[in-house]
Amino acid sequence: MSHILGFGGYVPERVMTNDDWAALVDTSDEWITQRTGIKRRRVAGPDESTLTLAGQAAAVAIKDAGLSADDIDEIIVATDTPEVYTPDTAALLQDLLGCRNVPTYDLGGSGCAGFVQGLDVARARIAFSPRTILVVGVELITRLIDWNDRSTAVLFGDAAGAVVLGPEPGRATVLDIVSGTDGSAAGILTLGVGGTRHPFNQAAIDSGAYNRLVMDGRRVFTEAVTRMSTAVSDVLDRIGKTVGDVDLVIPHQANLRIIDAVRKKLGAEQERVYVNIHEYGNTGSATVPFALWECVETGRIEKGDLVVLTAFGAGFHWAAVALQF
Ligand code: ACO
Repeated sequence: MSHILGFGGYVPERVMTNDDWAALVDTSDEWITQRTGIKRRRVAGPDESTLTLAGQAAAVAIKDAGLSADDIDEIIVATDTPEVYTPDTAALLQDLLGCRNVPTYDLGGSGCAGFVQGLDVARARIAFSPRTILVVGVELITRLIDWNDRSTAVLFGDAAGAVVLGPEPGRATVLDIVSGTDGSAAGILTLGVGGTRHPFNQAAIDSGAYNRLVMDGRRVFTEAVTRMSTAVSDVLDRIGKTVGDVDLVIPHQANLRIIDAVRKKLGAEQERVYVNIHEYGNTGSATVPFALWECVETGRIEKGDLVVLTAFGAGFHWAAVALQF
C-alpha cells in the first residue's frame, strides 16, 4: 500500500479576469462563463517559471509531510509545459529543492491526466521497493499558448500541486487506481509542433502553428465525460464501494459543463463534487493535486473521508484514484 504523507499547492499571484481577456480578444465574460464556468485564472509573473511553480508546491508538500528534501527518494513531475525541452523538469527540481542524487523523471505529453498517472507509477514503485516519492503536477500554460486564439487561450491558467507518497501510513491511503489510454484519439487534442514530425522551425513560426493547440472541443467533451465517469465507477467497483459511499469527488477542472455531466452520470450530489474552475481555469496536470491540497487546507476533506480523484487528458488518457483519509 502507498500513503499520502503531505499535500502542497501553489498559484501565481497575478489574477486575470474574463474582462481582462475581453480587452485583448473578441470574447466576453458572459461567453466564457456560460461555456466553461471560468471567471478568472492565475498567470505566472515574468520571474516565475514551471520550475519555480513546481518548487513552491513541492516545498509545501514536503513540509506538510514533516520531512525535508533529504528524505525524498524519487521525484516525478507531470507537465506538458516543461522548464526546458531537455533535461526534464524533475531533474531541475531535484537541484532546486536540494535533494540527494535520487532518480527523477517527467511524465510529459499526457496533458491533464499526467498527475494521476504519476500517482499510479509512484505507488507501483513503492510496492516494488519502499521509498518516499514526490509527485508534482505543474503547468505554466499561459506562456506557451497562442494569446490571439480566443477559442483556447481563455480556458487555461497556471498552477502547481504536489503530494509526497510513502510506504508508511500517513494522511490518506491510496486504495486503488484505474487508468487507461486510447491512442487513436490523439488528434482531438494536440499541440503537434516541436517534435520530429513537425520540428520547431521558421515555417512553424511563420504559420503560427508552433503554439496553436488543436482541439475538437465537442469530441473532448464527450470522451471526457464517458471516460471520467466510467473510471470513477470502475475504481469504486474494485474497492467494493458505490458513489453513495464517496464523500468527495475531485475531477479534472477542464470545464464546468464536463464536471456537471460527469456528476449527473455518476448520480452524485452537487456538494460531493469539488469545483474551483471559476477561480483558476484549467491548469492542466495541476488541477487535481492543487484542488486536493485546497480541500485539505480548507477542511473540505476530513479524516475518515473517502475521496475519488479523476482526470482525463490529451492522449487520450484517463484515470481515477480512490483515497481513504
Ligand atoms: N469568446 C467568444 N466566442 C468564442 C470564443 C470565445 N472565447 N471561442 C470560440 N468562440 C466562438 C467560435 O468562434 C464560434 O463562432 P462561430 O460559430 O461564429 O464560428 C462559436 O463561439 C462556437 O465555437 P465552438 O468552438 O463550437 O464553441 P463550443 O460551443 O464548442 O465551446 C468549448 C467551446 C467551451 C471549448 C467547448 O467545446 C467545450 O466545452 N469543450 C470541452 C473541452 C474542453 O473544455 N477543453 C479544455 C481543455 S482540454 C482538457 O482539459 C483535457
